[in-house]
Amino acid sequence: MPTVAPLIIFKLSMFIIVTLQPPPALSLTPCRTSCGSIAINYPFGIDDGCGAPQFRSMLNCSTDLFFLTPSGGYKVQHIDYDKKTMTIYDPAMSTCSILQPHHDFIMTDIQSVTIPPTPDTVFALLNCSIDSPVLNHYKNLCFDFSGHSCDELYGACNAFRVFHLLTNSSPPCCFTGYDTVKFMKMNILDCTHYTTVINTDNLRGIGPLDWVYGIKLSFTVPETGCERCSQSGGACGYDTETELEEVLPQVIIEAAILRGHSSM
Ligand SMILES: *[C@@H]1O[C@H](CO)[C@@H](O)[C@H](O)[C@H]1NC(C)=O
Ligand SMILES: *[C@@H]1O[C@H](CO)[C@@H](O)[C@H](O)[C@H]1NC(C)=O
Repeated sequence: MPTVAPLIIFKLSMFIIVTLQPPPALSLTPCRTSCGSIAINYPFGIDDGCGAPQFRSMLNCSTDLFFLTPSGGYKVQHIDYDKKTMTIYDPAMSTCSILQPHHDFIMTDIQSVTIPPTPDTVFALLNCSIDSPVLNHYKNLCFDFSGHSCDELYGACNAFRVFHLLTNSSPPCCFTGYDTVKFMKMNILDCTHYTTVINTDNLRGIGPLDWVYGIKLSFTVPETGCERCSQSGGACGYDTETELEEVLPQVIIEAAILRGHSSM
């Protein structure tokens, strides 16, 4: 039958076309959508080219999900895509139960614009010297933290009792916000340790043993229409080659404006 051959060829070529194309799910979304139990959605991405370019190289997924800053990798505990917050934890930070050598919390200029710590993340600077700028010229940077005091921290926390014991008095401390540690390194602040507390809006009358230690960041999602894209099964990304030219200038301008507003 003369018509069989063309039909076979047609079927064969369809077969080749179909099999040459990788499965749609893989070709459309080369971006991992989770790391462990944490969902990775826009604007974040673990793989280069995924997510929004403003958040490029901020996450790595090795054993756990880490938020990468110039001062180190911080374990991501939670990302809330509705409230647009990410909670991170610095395993090298002092808390009520463990005293560890201080190190600075440093973000890049882009990070402090696109994903800064929330206002309800309180930095407690501990064991400050009496010459510390936050006890003198910049003492207005310390605020009342729901009526809590340094003595309460030094008294309630095993980790901080040592400050009391060594000096037989209470070395000063300061409750402050991220902007203070952003503009002054710990050695300028002249405090030997710090800890950070999150969800601080309702901590009146609640002691340091029951506080939640960590850093909560709030991110902004660029308006790019990515929602429609992800709803149809796609992933949003950017060209890894041109990303710098297209996006950086705008972010730098924003960073400069923000710095101008909040510098002291
Ligand atoms: C991811 O970050 C963590 C913490 O900084 C680091 O220990 C790990 O080596 C990094 N992994 C990769 C693949 O870069
Ligand atoms: C507290 O600060 C003083 C200097 O102000 C320092 O000599 C001392 O070692 C600090 N205490 C601890 C436990 O680090």
